Amino acid sequence: MIDTHAHIVCKELYERKEEVIAQAKEAGVSKILIICTSIQEAKLAIALAKEDTMFDVAVGFHPCDLLDVQADDWLMLEEFLQEKEVVALGEIGLDYHWQTVEKDIQKEGFIRQIQLANKVQKPILIHMREATQDTMAILKEYAQYGGIIHCFSGSVETAKEAIALGMYISVGGPLTFKNARGLPEVVAQLPITSLFIETDCPYLTPHPHRGKQNEPKYLPYTLARLCEIKQMSEEDVKVQMRKNYEKLFSSLS
Ligand code: NI
Repeated sequence: MIDTHAHIVCKELYERKEEVIAQAKEAGVSKILIICTSIQEAKLAIALAKEDTMFDVAVGFHPCDLLDVQADDWLMLEEFLQEKEVVALGEIGLDYHWQTVEKDIQKEGFIRQIQLANKVQKPILIHMREATQDTMAILKEYAQYGGIIHCFSGSVETAKEAIALGMYISVGGPLTFKNARGLPEVVAQLPITSLFIETDCPYLTPHPHRGKQNEPKYLPYTLARLCEIKQMSEEDVKVQMRKNYEKLFSSLS
């Protein structure tokens, strides 16, 4: 099982990382793509990935954090992107839910980071919240090396449009929620060759552990729900997702 979006270097999870990692392995998680939202987190994640090949790393500035990013941070980001452990740039995107950062500043930061990813020919990991139209327009114009839209909650049409641009769709804990609204129906209509699962830990813990802090060890709940929706065996889904992952990151190595 691959967890394509895990913030295991966030403070809460990193301080008990031995336990978090051991329990993830025990639960059958064989690969974790660690998402770093700061330079400090990136250093911790790259160190973990150099020790254990179960980890890949993504570094990028989240749209809600852009006001705190300094000129030096941009230079560090470019340096990190040269590391072979850093397989993608993210999470980046647009978040119009909180609007703590002006839309224009978000767009500029998003585009600038896609251009950095293009320069090193690496995929991007997208955060898209209540900003479908602008996000899709920017992806269409700038994205060149594919990527993953994480914690997808949009329509079938948006998902298919993204897939046509070389994007994959990743779903997390919300797929298991009783009030998942249209998400199961959306996922049912998407090809398994374009899907991933994730925890987005420490957030969005799957049912029946909702309310607890999330960790990669809870990924099997999301996998089980996906298998139910797609009427596929866990083995087949895991094999396909491994192929998807290899394909997306195949230009690297
Ligand atoms: Ni995230």
